[in-house]
Amino acid sequence: MELYEAIQKRRTVRDFSTKRVPDDVLNRILEAGVKAPSHDHARDWHFVVLRDPKRIAEVLKHVNSGAEVQTDIINHWETATECQKSMYYDALPKQVKMLSQSRCLILPLFRGGTDLMAPRDISSLNSFASIWCLIQNILLAATAEGLSCALRIPIMNEEAYVLKTIHAPEGYRMPCYLAAGYSAPDARIIQQQDIPFSARLHAETW
Ligand SMILES: Cc1cc2nc3c(=O)[nH]c(=O)nc-3n(C[C@H](O)[C@H](O)[C@H](O)COP(=O)(O)O)c2cc1C
Repeated sequence: MELYEAIQKRRTVRDFSTKRVPDDVLNRILEAGVKAPSHDHARDWHFVVLRDPKRIAEVLKHVNSGAEVQTDIINHWETATECQKSMYYDALPKQVKMLSQSRCLILPLFRGGTDLMAPRDISSLNSFASIWCLIQNILLAATAEGLSCALRIPIMNEEAYVLKTIHAPEGYRMPCYLAAGYSAPDARIIQQQDIPFSARLHAETW
């Protein structure tokens, strides 16, 4: 698939089939990830890939399935557009299911640095920015391979729990959980916000 086509086609999917992602396909998308630019030219990134449903369930033990909180939370976001609300209505109850259903849960890991949580300036966040370049490469490569992805940012004690459970070495951080898989035939794809590009382009000055 051509790059611009992959960019256009990439969408978050939270409903997967159980069709196995072949190892060679998985390896290609992860290799695409590590081709991303890195702030220190070190590319100190690792992946823990979980295929075993029992292992996946163990790692997701602290993720709230979200079903009971969705309307309360969303109704508090008065500023959210209908388009945004429909995303949250779809996403919140599916947080566990979307990460486990495809049986291909990728945990990307990066070396965080000491000032990540109290940055002096924006450059203190470079290691975090770099891993997100990797994640975007994976999302696009997965699309080119005919796969879909869903991601979740760990909250509260989730990240510490996962790092301990997977025996990550000291200093590594997990920016997100990332599920890759084949979309279910009836997978819901939420409409993207329609933003005319011309409204965002400022010539010479804003
Ligand atoms: C930084 C970041 C954090 C996100 N966190 C979550 C999340 O915790 N749970 C979830 O279901 N989706 C999450 N998403 C996916 C977004 O909801 C999704 O990208 C957005 O609705 C736009 O839809 P699209 O990816 O189909 O363009 C996240 C995406 C990004 C880039």
